[in-house]
Amino acid sequence: MEMQLSQASWPLLLVLLLPLVCLLYLRQDHNRKQQPRASDGDLKAYPIVGRFPHLAKNGHRLIEWSVEVAKRSPTQTTAFKAPGLPGVVITANPDNIEHIAKTSFANYPKGDFLSSKLEDFLGHGIFNSDGEQWLWQRKAASMEFSKRSLRKFIVHTVQSEVVGRLLPLLEQAERHGRTLDMQHIFECFTFDNICNVAFGEDPGCLAKEGAATPEAAEFVRAFDYVQSAIVGRFRPPAIFLWRLQRALNMEPEKQIREALGVIHGYADRIVRRCREKWAAAAGSESGGDFLAHIVAARGDLSDESLRDVVTNLLLAGRDTTSAALTWFFWLVSGRPDVESKIVDEIRRVRGSRSSSHGGGTGETTTTTFTFDELREMHYIQAAITESMRLYPPVPVGLHYCNQDDVLPDGTFVGKGWAVQHSVYAMSRLEGLWGKDCEEFRPERWLREDGTFQPESPFRFPVFHAGPRMCLGKELAYIQMKFIVSCAFERFSFQYQGGDEHPELELMFMLRMKGGLPMQVTKQRPVPEAEADLA
Ligand code: HEM
Repeated sequence: MEMQLSQASWPLLLVLLLPLVCLLYLRQDHNRKQQPRASDGDLKAYPIVGRFPHLAKNGHRLIEWSVEVAKRSPTQTTAFKAPGLPGVVITANPDNIEHIAKTSFANYPKGDFLSSKLEDFLGHGIFNSDGEQWLWQRKAASMEFSKRSLRKFIVHTVQSEVVGRLLPLLEQAERHGRTLDMQHIFECFTFDNICNVAFGEDPGCLAKEGAATPEAAEFVRAFDYVQSAIVGRFRPPAIFLWRLQRALNMEPEKQIREALGVIHGYADRIVRRCREKWAAAAGSESGGDFLAHIVAARGDLSDESLRDVVTNLLLAGRDTTSAALTWFFWLVSGRPDVESKIVDEIRRVRGSRSSSHGGGTGETTTTTFTFDELREMHYIQAAITESMRLYPPVPVGLHYCNQDDVLPDGTFVGKGWAVQHSVYAMSRLEGLWGKDCEEFRPERWLREDGTFQPESPFRFPVFHAGPRMCLGKELAYIQMKFIVSCAFERFSFQYQGGDEHPELELMFMLRMKGGLPMQVTKQRPVPEAEADLA
């Protein structure tokens, strides 16, 4: 359904549009005089269309470009405005982020601009709702995530996935000299894990190849596809056309609809099984998982609301942690000095256990680490955090402005404007992280005594900040530290993707385009002197 203008029609069209263009320009000029001045860097502003051409030109590389935009502006913030279009503000300024995420939280909801594009995927789940709809889910989820029983359950499921699946897989790859796509492996790991923790289901994606249930494998494919395709709805020309394409069942909306059918079918089955278990247990709690607790606490929820809980938790729990691990393994593979410190820490913790407890008891404890031992691993915590600083799994946050406002740096934000905070850009600003901001340096997170030093969430909004801060942060660190300590204790990983920087791929999370090919080799042996001491 492409509309084509003949060459002869263009001049006529321009003449017809000229009065409208002049009117809009005058209106924009009038508005500009009335509004407080936005901080705008030195990006050239064109008559009428303002700085929007820059935005349109760089829409396909928004993450990388946000760094240039932030660096050019004295307040790391740039506003884009053209008549007839809602403004867009891109910021990497911690004071602005505190304002948006916390101080003026109520004025910066997710808003319809975002939620309408995600509604068929995430429904009214926690990620895609505001106000009351968001609040009850936040309260229910906070209660669950703060339970000690959930933490115990998490530790147990992570341990069994590491011992039973991840380590055997790495051993085999090492023995046969096989290159593994570690990004894929982490995605399988976190998918199995979140399904176990959140829904009491084991899809078995990381079990021996082909062992995943066919529905799980189909679900994962559909989930990946929808994420990458829906991001397209935020870019021109789809931003103007996607509703029409959906109404006419045109590509890519046709394929999105089909994939959503698979996703919802899978989520509905999880909900059905959970309800059946609940009924079979005659109303008493039927399992330690998150969904079972929600069903027990909120018997009034519709199947559709529970489906939204499922899809939102899958999004939250799967791709964030796997993205973090992917970039971490890649960074460490290029830094033998960091790897060496990681291995030293693992051996020190293992060694202190051997001396204080006379060795582990049973396979789980000798193969993995206890929760308390993981807490002692400050260097690993610092290295993982530093890796997420450079490659934040959620690289941008998007907000909608309810009422005219002025940000702490003086930037005007109009009602209906979109405000995007770039976590990715923040880590590359010398003003925030010093001259070596682009370097992978775990030590920046350590105090003199070697303990981990956290940072303000507004300067490091990797888990977001304020009332919508991530609820799974602790779960994520447990998973990541478990995997890192168990994997690096035995193996070393060599990147096989060449010398070029891997390409960034923005789905909702920051993936590595084409995966993370890694060769697995045995970790260096324990030096004899240390082995004797242990
Ligand atoms: C490295 C891993 C993770 C990172 C970097 C991360 C980051 C984030 C970020 C940036 C947000 C705010 C997103 C937004 O509002 O648009 C968020 C929200 C959330 N995260 Fe995480 N997350 C991680 C892992 C997890 C895990 C494993 C879970 C558990 C299932 C989880 C559960 C949630 C939930 C429920 C929210 C919604 C909070 C709300 O809107 O009130 N996250 N996370």
